Order: sequence, then C-alpha cells, then structure tokens
Amino acid sequence: MEKKIFFSVVHKYPLVVAVITQLFVLFTLRNVLLLILQLSVSIWTFVFLQGLICAMICYFFLKLPKWFIVISFLFPIFFSVAWNYLHISAGIYGLIFILLALTFSHTLKERVPLYLSNSTTVDGLKKIIDEQKAKKVIDLGSGTGGVVRGLSSETIISHGVESAPMLWIFSALCSWLSRKGSIYRKNIWDTNFSDYDVVYAFLSPAIMEKLFQKIKNEMKPGTVFISNSFQVPNTKASEVRTLDDGRKTKLFIYRR
Ligand SMILES: C[S@@+](CC[C@H](N)C(=O)[O-])C[C@H]1O[C@@H](n2cnc3c(N)ncnc32)[C@H](O)[C@@H]1O
Repeated sequence: MEKKIFFSVVHKYPLVVAVITQLFVLFTLRNVLLLILQLSVSIWTFVFLQGLICAMICYFFLKLPKWFIVISFLFPIFFSVAWNYLHISAGIYGLIFILLALTFSHTLKERVPLYLSNSTTVDGLKKIIDEQKAKKVIDLGSGTGGVVRGLSSETIISHGVESAPMLWIFSALCSWLSRKGSIYRKNIWDTNFSDYDVVYAFLSPAIMEKLFQKIKNEMKPGTVFISNSFQVPNTKASEVRTLDDGRKTKLFIYRR
C-alpha cells in the first residue's frame, strides 16, 4: 500500500522527484567522497559519478521512463559545462528559465509536454470533420495553434484553448493576423465542451481517464472526441484511424 502511494507520487511529479534526486546525490556524494573518505576527485569525475548514480536511482529505484534516465545522467554534466565555461550573466539564465516556464508550464503540472500535430494529422481531422458534417471544433491544449488555423474555414468555426502564456500569446496573435480560428487562454478543465461537434486532443496518457469523464458529461449525442496517439484506458474507441505519416499516427475516435 505504502509502496503504491510512493510510486503514484513519483509518477505524478517525476520532474520534482528527479530534481530532488540530483540534490540528494550531490550532497551525499560530496560528503562521502570529500569529507568522509577525504578523496580528491576532479570535477569531471564527480559530475560523471553524480549523473551515473542519479540515472541508476531513476531506473532501478524510481522506475521512471527511459528519457528521465538520459536526462538525469546528462544534467550534471551540462550544468558543469555551463557553470565553468559559459560565462553568461545570471539575468540571461533567469530570462531563459522564465520563457521556458511560460511555454512548458504543463509539463511539470500535468505531464503534458509540447509536441505538435503534423499536416497529415490536420488533413485526417478535416476528413473526419467533413464526414461528421461538423460546424464547430475545438483543440484542447492548442499549443502553437497550427491545428486550429488548419481546421478553420468558411464553414468551420475552429477554437483552441491553451493555458501556457507564451504559447497562447503566439498562437492567438497568429490566429488574429491570419483570421483563422480563435485561441482562448483557458484551462481545459474550465472549458465547456457542450457547444462543439468535434473535440480534438493531443495530450498525454496521464490525463485521458479524467478527460474522458468530462467528455462523457458534456458532449452531446452525435458528436465525436478524437484523441491523437493516446487511448482512453478501459474504453474501446469507436474507430481507430492510422495515418500515412512517418510515425503512423493513430487517431482514436470516440463517438458519443
Ligand atoms: C502535445 S501539445 C499539442 C498541441 C496541439 N494541440 C497540436 O496538436 O499541435 C499539448 C498542449 O496542451 C497544453 N495543455 C496541457 N494541459 C493543458 C490544460 N490543462 N489547459 C490548457 N492547455 C493545456 C500544453 O501547454 C501544450 O501546448
């Protein structure tokens, strides 16, 4: 039971856990090597050891996804390179950090990173929208707004909701300038889906169950929910379309 709670926290906040691991290993390794064993090791041996130990903890103990293992290993090495050789003012680092936080805020909070639908997917969506004779569509978490602009036409009202501030400013501006679709700075969880014929999402497996509950509560009969790549757990899709792109994108279609 306690083990289950531990792993559910680890998998809910993997980035936080990975950062705590780095700090823990940094202080433990420093104390063991330098203070207890009184060894003198070069900075590069130290960062290599730190990366290796963190990667092993992430893999064997925390059981995090593979990419955390790579990041955990490389993080102290890149950090040391930047610290020792890139003499950039702290203000620049601060600015880069703020811009990244304003763009990728959901990666930490909801484990939804930023990756974008390609043009083949937009064409696949247009086909479904056409078959559905849909008039109003929404992209949940619209990123840079490519899907919203791509689906907008004289007959289709296309909306997007995006809560990462930088992405919203950029995509709302593009929509406004091109007069294609509208992007709202809104959280998915505060958006009402009842007005839409097609709801599209390219999010993360972590939130599919919760999202589908909202879909079931709010979408009207005859409408469709389309999820790019991620299935709703324990719910069979009405249809699955595999697109002819490099990654063989799967669109999971759930008819209401
Ligand atoms: C994988 S990207 C998909 C972007 C776009 N829909 C596309 O297919 O090209 C997911 C986007 O959802 C946004 N997002 C994640 N959780 C959100 C939430 N709760 N409310 C609003 N936007 C969210 C993220 O900021 C990110 O831009």
